[in-house]
Amino acid sequence: MNLFQNDPRFAGIEPFERKVWLASPTMHGDEQHWVDDAIRTNWVSTVGANINEVERQVAARVGVKYAVALSCGTAALHLATKLAGEKLYGQARPNQGTLQGHRVFCSDMTFDASINPVAYEDGEAVFIDTEPDTWNMDPVALERAFDLYPEVRLIIVAHLYGTPGKMEQIRRIADAHGALIVEDAAESFGAKYRLNGEWVETGTLGDYNCISFNGNKIITGSAGGMFLTNSREDAEKVRKWSTQSREAAPWYQHEEIGYNYRMSNIVAGVVRGQLPYLDEHIAQKKAIYERYRAGLSDLPVRMNPFDPETAQPNFWLSCMIIDADAMAPSVRGEQDYLYQTVPGKSSPHEILDALAAFNAEGRPIWKPMHMQPIYRTHAFITTEGNGRGRSNAYIAGAGIDVGADIFRRGLCLPSDNKMTPEQQNVIIDIIHRCFQ
Ligand SMILES: Cc1ncc(COP(=O)(O)O)c(C=O)c1O
Repeated sequence: MNLFQNDPRFAGIEPFERKVWLASPTMHGDEQHWVDDAIRTNWVSTVGANINEVERQVAARVGVKYAVALSCGTAALHLATKLAGEKLYGQARPNQGTLQGHRVFCSDMTFDASINPVAYEDGEAVFIDTEPDTWNMDPVALERAFDLYPEVRLIIVAHLYGTPGKMEQIRRIADAHGALIVEDAAESFGAKYRLNGEWVETGTLGDYNCISFNGNKIITGSAGGMFLTNSREDAEKVRKWSTQSREAAPWYQHEEIGYNYRMSNIVAGVVRGQLPYLDEHIAQKKAIYERYRAGLSDLPVRMNPFDPETAQPNFWLSCMIIDADAMAPSVRGEQDYLYQTVPGKSSPHEILDALAAFNAEGRPIWKPMHMQPIYRTHAFITTEGNGRGRSNAYIAGAGIDVGADIFRRGLCLPSDNKMTPEQQNVIIDIIHRCFQ
């Protein structure tokens, strides 16, 4: 028994016998076949048929010429960012990153793996605020950022929770300033975006593109990621760097710094077994999103938004945001939180605690990067310009910070594609009772 189970608002609700997860792996059986195949044929290494096949299948699915299978999405993002740095600023010395002394414009509301590679490469991330229409990088704030830092030549853009960002506008701005784009499609594999009237998949929209097969993603390899490109030269470079940068000599010969970032043929076996189910998983996730949207429509909340004219998300995570006037008072410290229970109102942590009490997993919205202690000294640009230091007795208003507002009022809902409609109805019921 915990507080919520004693709370009369939740009378009659029983905890789920088996936990309902935020997003867990969904295996189908084919994965076992391809893993066994790797072991049976003794290709238990970072070479093998599974790797070749998943590279071929993903490139064909996404619509790029080349896919390079790597150990994780973070590795793909690191090499994509390094490639961009080298293209822009030349090859760096072995003990220096390619972005040393250079700023990079970055999505602010994303997982830190999107943008940490800027630090790996000795660059300085400048965070661009979020727009409320898709919860991704705001093109207006990006324009402001180029007003302030016209020398910047690299943009890292993520598609949060599987919803494509406003890439047509972002590409136009990038081109106008001669900037390259690293696209982080880790969460949005299979999502589509309408670019200049044509539907294309995310993973094709940057100059260097990345996806992830992390255990929580729409399909998984237990781990794994890919670098996607139409440039043979870039694909070959990433393949070389990811396998320790060996030169073509009979002995270990190195002219560049290398990494051990290649995907294993065992992991590739899991990915190979999962790939035929990508569209099925997207359909399940979409049904979950639609059921939440209908089931929560009478509450003062909205779902994570998208524009059906320009985006077909993969609906990886369903999220909701509480209307400002329906927020019960709540505060967050660096590691803990406190909220009040107020009739007719609620807060993300009340809902997350209630869900946890009944054995369902939600999660706070990804805390924006400009609010993270590690990046607290980095620039943050909003639609109004510099977003730092906006509160003062002599300055009217506190300034706009869309990301902080979504973080404050939003939450990720249990979105596991094995959740049954009956379980989801109970979750929707719990959320309603939070607002009683
Ligand atoms: C937006 C985003 N970028 C990058 C990553 C990193 O991918 P990986 O875990 O495969 O390294 C993740 C998730 O893990 C992510 O959600």
